[in-house]
Amino acid sequence: MEKLRLGVVGVGSVVREIYQYLYYRSDYSHLLDVVAVADPNDQFRNWFCDTFNIPAERRFKDYGEMFAKVELDAAQINTPDHIHAAPAIAALEAGLDVLVPKPTAATIKDAHAMLQAAKRTGKLLGIDFHKREDPRIKEAEARYQSGRYGRFQSGVWFMLDKLLVADPNHVPMFFATPNFAERNTPISFLTVHMCDALIKIVDLRPVEVRSVGFSHKLPSLSPIAVKGFDLCDTEIIFANGAIAHIITGWHVPNTAHALTVQSSRMICSEAVFDLGIDTPGLHELHPDGIFEINPLFRNFEKDGTVTGYGISSPGRIYQKFIANHNGHLTDEVRQQMMNPTTLGFYTSLVLQGAEESLAQGKPIADGVTRGVPIDLKELLRRELGPEALSEYGY
Ligand SMILES: NC(=O)c1ccc[n+]([C@@H]2O[C@H](COP(=O)([O-])OP(=O)(O)OC[C@H]3O[C@@H](n4cnc5c(N)ncnc54)[C@H](O)[C@@H]3O)[C@@H](O)[C@H]2O)c1
Repeated sequence: MEKLRLGVVGVGSVVREIYQYLYYRSDYSHLLDVVAVADPNDQFRNWFCDTFNIPAERRFKDYGEMFAKVELDAAQINTPDHIHAAPAIAALEAGLDVLVPKPTAATIKDAHAMLQAAKRTGKLLGIDFHKREDPRIKEAEARYQSGRYGRFQSGVWFMLDKLLVADPNHVPMFFATPNFAERNTPISFLTVHMCDALIKIVDLRPVEVRSVGFSHKLPSLSPIAVKGFDLCDTEIIFANGAIAHIITGWHVPNTAHALTVQSSRMICSEAVFDLGIDTPGLHELHPDGIFEINPLFRNFEKDGTVTGYGISSPGRIYQKFIANHNGHLTDEVRQQMMNPTTLGFYTSLVLQGAEESLAQGKPIADGVTRGVPIDLKELLRRELGPEALSEYGY
């Protein structure tokens, strides 16, 4: 097999910003044939299908109908986080390999059900955490895991979006609908990226989480005020006692040098290392302002090809799906793909823990909520039962 017959479930913002290029303008496009689309939103479904010539009989409102009627090899599930599990499990049960954008799911119950379905069906599941393919993260991972840095002790990670990401008053509208910041928190949208990258580098299990949330800027917006957190500082304690703060938000001034201001400093027993993720090297002084361009993430090349780790991250997962269909996927690679860390389980655990921390938290000052500490082993026991503890290494 050279091409996967792909069914796409959900064609909203992430398809507009990233995946349309993967499907049609990337070095991986020759591996993918988008043969059918399911999305109940008429506007989004028609935009995608009209643009890319998907015929009327292969446009669906209901993904179940698509899986029943169209011959597919794989499915990509681009629905909101809380709607990943049902279509992903339905696709696995229909005999398809499945790719899902980060995070695996909003809850560990959903993530666990997806992992179980992959195990039960023997099909492949891949989660697109694109930072895993950022060459700086990969280099840090290889160096950390060689022992060069010693033990991870303490680290700070930042991921701060420009206000326009969360501001429904911004013209033209970006991602934000009026309830965007109520439906998404900086934790579900941003912390998961950094948490996954950090876990990939240090390969440690998180054991406790506590968040502090600030709600100052969003409620002050006008004419549409927004409920929700501007900034969250999530403290994660790992099994070796190391501690990380992942600080995420979306109210950096729109004049910022990058859409997302992001970096980290990691302190280990033998070294300190920094990741300047928003300073990838192309620095512009221009009448429009001063900008850091990140072609490492997404690079529109002169010939129309789109490259970068935003594209190669899902692209390399699809290469593995094809290798599997052709009988070339080694057991070692399969096991590596299907372990709970690669499948983003611990990141979903941190996500659920951090959101519970804030939900149970108390106001400590105007607009500031201090969350309670959440013991992740107890959370796991409560949600999945005691038998899940050893399965996930607790
Ligand atoms: N890789 C990244 O950096 C990145 C960036 C943005 C979003 N995401 C992730 O991508 C996913 C989608 O986010 P988005 O911003 O595109 O959301 P969105 O709301 O813009 O789009 C979601 C789409 O799913 C459709 N949908 C909802 N229920 C459905 C169902 N039952 N069957 C089929 N389609 C259904 C909606 O109609 C909509 O078109 C989320 O998990 C999000 O966290 C990843």
